[in-house]
Amino acid sequence: MTSKNGINSGGKGCRAKALIAVANQSDDPLLQVNPSVRTFVDHNGRQHRLECHRWDQLDAETQQWIQDVTEHNMKSFYESSSCGWNRSQKEKELRHSTARHLVVRSEEDNRLVAFSHFRFETGGQESECCVYCYELQVEASHQRSGVGRHLMEVLYEIAVAFRMRKVMLTVFDCNSIAMHFYTHSLKYRIDRSSPSRCQMTADYQILCHNVTQSKLITNTN
Ligand SMILES: CC(C)(COP(=O)(O)OP(=O)(O)OC[C@H]1O[C@@H](n2cnc3c(N)ncnc32)[C@H](O)[C@@H]1OP(=O)(O)O)[C@@H](O)C(=O)NCCC(=O)NCCS
Repeated sequence: MTSKNGINSGGKGCRAKALIAVANQSDDPLLQVNPSVRTFVDHNGRQHRLECHRWDQLDAETQQWIQDVTEHNMKSFYESSSCGWNRSQKEKELRHSTARHLVVRSEEDNRLVAFSHFRFETGGQESECCVYCYELQVEASHQRSGVGRHLMEVLYEIAVAFRMRKVMLTVFDCNSIAMHFYTHSLKYRIDRSSPSRCQMTADYQILCHNVTQSKLITNTN
């Protein structure tokens, strides 16, 4: 049975999968949120603009920068974790067919400043649909100027627009700055699917932020 908006109204799992399928068809998820998020002035008065692309839509220079900034920021965390660092594995993740990349550029000189790789996915449970943030990377010279917070707020707005239930992400326990940023500054909490909530030993946490029902209603009517 299909409802007026084309979303299958069967079980919760079917509904979640249908919402994800709709979201994955979107050419540009940013078109579904308030256009004001596309430009952004950081704490130092620098103006930036935001774009959203699939991997194949990015030019070679941007693809290279995404891999380089990820390696620069994350390699040491991966190396001190049980995963180890594997650049080709990371590239495979970034190229995934459902991967989206929010890219931030400086308006002043067009330089790349930050990016977030996200996907529309089922969350900890089949019945939950979420925006999963696979990557959030800010250039060292632009950290602590509000760019990371802005990108996470945009991911939340995308989740609202596509009727996802949560924003989710994975963070290493040893990445204390990121852990503080998510849990203290952005009020993310440990998801019930996180290893620490399932009596499992791991060196990372899965964090989440619920999309509030009132916002869902406001934005989908
Ligand atoms: C973690 C990261 C994404 C945060 O992005 P950012 O743009 O630097 O953070 P913001 O400027 O938006 O900070 C928002 C708030 O987070 C907290 N915060 C951010 N960086 C912090 C730091 N180095 N020390 C203490 N608090 C910090 C602060 O409360 C800050 O608010 P304030 O500046 O008004 O005090 C960024 O530092 C980064 O790219 N780090 C390296 C890669 C990484 O670890 N990514 C996350 C992987 S899961």
